[in-house]
Amino acid sequence: MIDLYKEFYRKKRVLVTGHTGFKGSWLSIWLHELGAEVVGVSLDPYSERDNFVLSNIGSRIKADIRADIRNLQKMKEIFAEYQPEIVFHLAAQPLVRLSYEQPVETYESNVMGTIHVMEAIRATKSVKVGVMITTDKCYDNKEQLQGYKETDPFGGYDPYSSSKGACEIAIQSWRRSFFNPEDYNKKHSVSLASVRAGNVIGGGDWALDRIIPDCIRALETGKVIDIRSPKAVRPWEHVLEPLHGYMMLAQRMWDYPTEYCEGWNFGPEDESISTVWDVASELIKNYGFGELRDSSDANVVHEANLLMLDINKVKTRLGWKPRLNMQQCIALVADWYKRYRKEDVYSLCIEEIRTFVGFS
Ligand SMILES: NC(=O)c1ccc[n+]([C@@H]2O[C@H](COP(=O)([O-])OP(=O)(O)OC[C@H]3O[C@@H](n4cnc5c(N)ncnc54)[C@H](O)[C@@H]3O)[C@@H](O)[C@H]2O)c1
Repeated sequence: MIDLYKEFYRKKRVLVTGHTGFKGSWLSIWLHELGAEVVGVSLDPYSERDNFVLSNIGSRIKADIRADIRNLQKMKEIFAEYQPEIVFHLAAQPLVRLSYEQPVETYESNVMGTIHVMEAIRATKSVKVGVMITTDKCYDNKEQLQGYKETDPFGGYDPYSSSKGACEIAIQSWRRSFFNPEDYNKKHSVSLASVRAGNVIGGGDWALDRIIPDCIRALETGKVIDIRSPKAVRPWEHVLEPLHGYMMLAQRMWDYPTEYCEGWNFGPEDESISTVWDVASELIKNYGFGELRDSSDANVVHEANLLMLDINKVKTRLGWKPRLNMQQCIALVADWYKRYRKEDVYSLCIEEIRTFVGFS
């Protein structure tokens, strides 16, 4: 496979929180394939059909640890034992709707969990780079037409979004207080950044209330697909797009620790910003069959209707840009869901990563 990072990850000790989840499993597979020594820290996977389980990545990486990021002491012990050099923090309760039912747990995992990971980084001298994953929803959403810039204020309406806005404030505070670039190599040796991606889609996601898993569940059981927010506009992107951005950023932070320790948006190009209805239509076209139904009335809780990211900063300063357009992205997503039951899922994921890096 083409190594976009030119052997950088080979033999690096990389700790990934949330490795049993959708994005974390893909990141672990990619890092493992690049030769990194991956240590994963998460709760158990949600189901037997998760990408983590089907790909068997847990048994391939250096350590597959089940631990709760709400336990600070445990986090410090894991970091002390494995001495990671790079940390990607993805573990979180990531669902808007669930956050209305479990606001306290959402805040505990997302806000205190992030603080615990930063404290574990602070206590472990081996860590040079920390990439903290938040979301596009961390911005104060004004339902505006232009995309959010990294300098826009944080906010969030629902408990999930606001917990991620709170994470961003905490990350900013820890960077100013403990990992300040001005004190680099004097008081600390950590480069800390936060990254915000849009609505990430890809094979192996079975989360509730996300459009692709909802569609696949309906398709696999021969049901009509109910679309509850057909007109909602989202910045859709394939899971490999932001993961490539996070890995690229971590490499750059390693080489230039004081120049890239900031917030970064990793969203799609404007032409990939489309409605839930359009994405579901493209999916059934690629899947081969399926029927959509507009069920907007069933939408009971508040969810943002318009959410876009401005990606000029990553393009100009990091040199990152999305590799897939909307059609290529959905084709790859549909491909995974059409094949996962019949094929070896680890090889399927590697094939998709290969396809992805082949685009430019
Ligand atoms: N999927 C998206 O569209 C999207 C978009 C923007 C940001 N994000 C962010 O990316 C990250 C990963 O999202 P995902 O879609 O892969 O979610 P996911 O639900 O598939 O995975 C979440 C992971 O976090 C772990 N986790 C949750 N609570 C934990 C706790 N208390 N202790 C230890 N581990 C815990 C889970 O075990 C799992 O491994 C999250 O931070 C999420 O907010 C996701």
